[in-house]
Amino acid sequence: MSPDPPEIAEYERLDEARRDGIGEEDNPIPLWFNVGFYGCIVFGILYIIWYTLLSDWSSASMYAAEVSAAKQEYAAASPAPAETNPYHGDAAAIAEGAETFKTICAACHKPDGSGLVGPSLVDPYWKYGHSDKDLFTTVAEGRPGGMPAWKPLLGTDKIWKVLAYVETLPKSDQPGVGAPGYAAPGTTAPTAAAPGTAAPGS
Ligand code: HEC
Repeated sequence: MSPDPPEIAEYERLDEARRDGIGEEDNPIPLWFNVGFYGCIVFGILYIIWYTLLSDWSSASMYAAEVSAAKQEYAAASPAPAETNPYHGDAAAIAEGAETFKTICAACHKPDGSGLVGPSLVDPYWKYGHSDKDLFTTVAEGRPGGMPAWKPLLGTDKIWKVLAYVETLPKSDQPGVGAPGYAAPGTTAPTAAAPGTAAPGS
């Protein structure tokens, strides 16, 4: 068995200047390279100073500017809803609203509005108020107790129309489903609605 070959580091170094026709030289670094190299460093330092101290540009402020521009665009595209229902008593709008009510709202509020899962819409009690604006907000944005937001589906116009229809539903002066003091049929009626809860009729 032949002895192990020596480790690479143990080979004798071949120190002649040219091996394989390739030589190692020690030429001065060309000026263009040094100019570029140090130029980059100087530029970097100046840029950091300019960016952090002198310019007020930052990705955060750029983001904030874009967000506020988008908000303005959004506000311009969807003007604040009217404070009052433009369709009070408008027969065509009410007919359209009736369709919407039957297809969507009746499932929870009953076709006559007397309430089922959702509260009665024909009793004198309004948990969230019954000004046009309150009602619009309720239907457009929903309410935490299980009332979904309908604006994405219906849009402003159809919400006003369905509310114009709700106004035409025959009203009751008794507390209905969802009102304090409401007694489900067959149970004992409480003596009176809790004080301060019943809003004056609508
Ligand atoms: C999925 C069932 C459901 C549907 C569908 C639904 N609602 Fe409601 N609605 C509710 C519930 C539940 C509440 C009570 C929310 C609360 O108390 O926070 C409510 C509350 C309301 C109120 C507020 C009543 C008050 O006392 O202030 C109004 C007005 C109303 N709904 C109108 C509508 C209209 C109009 C539609 C059709 C576009 C509709 N709802 C569709 C479940 C529904």
